[in-house]
Amino acid sequence: MTFSTVSHPFLDGKLKRLLIGGEWVESLAQETFDCLNPATGKVIAKVSRGGAEDIDRAVKAAREAFEGPWSQWKPFDRQALMLKIADHVEVNFDELGLLETLDMGAPVARTSLFKRWLVQAFRYYASQAVNIHGETSENSFPGSFMTYTVKDPVGVVGGIIPWNGPLLTQLWSICPTLATGCTLVLKPAEEAPLSCLRLAELMMEAGLPPGVVNVVPGPGHTAGAALAAHPGVDKIAFTGSTATGRKIIEASAINMKRVAVELGGKSPDIVFDDANLDIAVPGAAMGCFANTGQVCYSGTRLFVQRGIYDQFVERIAAFGKTLKVGDSLNPQTQLGPLISQAQLDRVQGYMNIACDEGAEMVSGGRRLGGELADGYFVEPTVLAGVSNDMRIAREEIFGPVLSVIPFDDEEEAIQLGNTTEYGLGGGVWSQNIGRALRVSRAIRSGMFWVNCYSVTEPAISSRGIKMSGYGEKGGRHHIEEYLYSKTVWLRTDV
Ligand code: NAI
Ligand code: MG
Repeated sequence: MTFSTVSHPFLDGKLKRLLIGGEWVESLAQETFDCLNPATGKVIAKVSRGGAEDIDRAVKAAREAFEGPWSQWKPFDRQALMLKIADHVEVNFDELGLLETLDMGAPVARTSLFKRWLVQAFRYYASQAVNIHGETSENSFPGSFMTYTVKDPVGVVGGIIPWNGPLLTQLWSICPTLATGCTLVLKPAEEAPLSCLRLAELMMEAGLPPGVVNVVPGPGHTAGAALAAHPGVDKIAFTGSTATGRKIIEASAINMKRVAVELGGKSPDIVFDDANLDIAVPGAAMGCFANTGQVCYSGTRLFVQRGIYDQFVERIAAFGKTLKVGDSLNPQTQLGPLISQAQLDRVQGYMNIACDEGAEMVSGGRRLGGELADGYFVEPTVLAGVSNDMRIAREEIFGPVLSVIPFDDEEEAIQLGNTTEYGLGGGVWSQNIGRALRVSRAIRSGMFWVNCYSVTEPAISSRGIKMSGYGEKGGRHHIEEYLYSKTVWLRTDV
């Protein structure tokens, strides 16, 4: 299978439409946009381009669904639906994973691993549907009063997601929506909307009621902005850049929406000289290069203790060179293309900045040509001689570019690691358990990995702090963000 021969049942040449109120409809303005395969630069589908007026229709459909029969579904009914969806997605996963590969470029070796995650997400949140609890509290008010809280779904949720892994990212809003009895308007990114549209089809086939999940792909500055500002939306769950996250928070003021924003990062990954280097070299490399560096919690600032610095730089650069970059459909491929020409320009721009700032390009640094020339492929890149105050060490690049920075001792590693406006991920590599524990406590971030990196699953919580945003994802607290608490005082002597 190669790009020239691949066929996909979803890519049938027909216009891909918006899902609003259970119907597949064209945008009111009758506009469309082209979906590209970033490995070839070729158009693979035409999609209706949702605008502000389509968002308005979708929000109304979501409100109607929220107040309709869906509101009568009991927790066990919602759980049963989610388990059915999980089964249906499991059976149909191969074409869903392939669609994600074709739309956003991640190699099949990566997207095929998403099956477990995707199915687990529906099954885990299905268990949450039957685990919604209020609490009773003893009060001391004179007389006879009982006090307790009840939980209600917040209402209509807007999910706004980026292009770097929509197949999984959409679940962070879909699953808690279904578990709690909310309804959703999902706005995928224009760069990669297809796995959202296809998952919605599969959910409908499994019995999702009309209007409970609506999907409106469209531009951020029109459709996205309209959703973020819509007075009929009760909560926004956003994943994306810090700049857009700030706009989302500002727009929420119009009706005091609840907001969760998972934003950018510049996460520190710290290697001590007592680390098991056979594990740390590939681990730290893939902590940055996985998904061609397009991961919010990538460990892009690699701090290496001075005694092993030269050796480590050499080994990680050598490892980077072994990575197979190319045809995302080849099962051997480890890294696919960047998502777009714009992202390629951005990443190459940072490579130029690295040279201007005096960093040493130890490996990588080039766009790939030959048979890959039509796609947005770059080599995994290792930069040495980087200091923590260079732009390449401060700003999110979102490409396979690793800055390796030396440090002398634990105190300096922690100080440098924390010198960032972001607070998403972080890691430490050391066989000294006390040191690993101290560093994991001292780095200010919402996620941290010890002798591993990037391990996640739906049942385990994560979040950002500082400029990486706020809001729980995964784990047992996530659904609380989709629930209102109401405190009830009940006089018992009447
Ligand atoms: P973005 O944050 O602007 O886009 C993410 C989502 O927000 C998309 O669905 C987009 O349509 C929507 N959006 C854009 N403007 C909006 C607005 N005013 N109101 C509501 N929604 C809006 O990111 P973009 O433009 O795709 O990428 C720009 C840079 O951001 C990338 O080069 C990358 O460095 C970084 N980025 C970081 C991500 C992360 O997870 N840390 C994810 C995506 C991008
Ligand atoms: Mg695409």
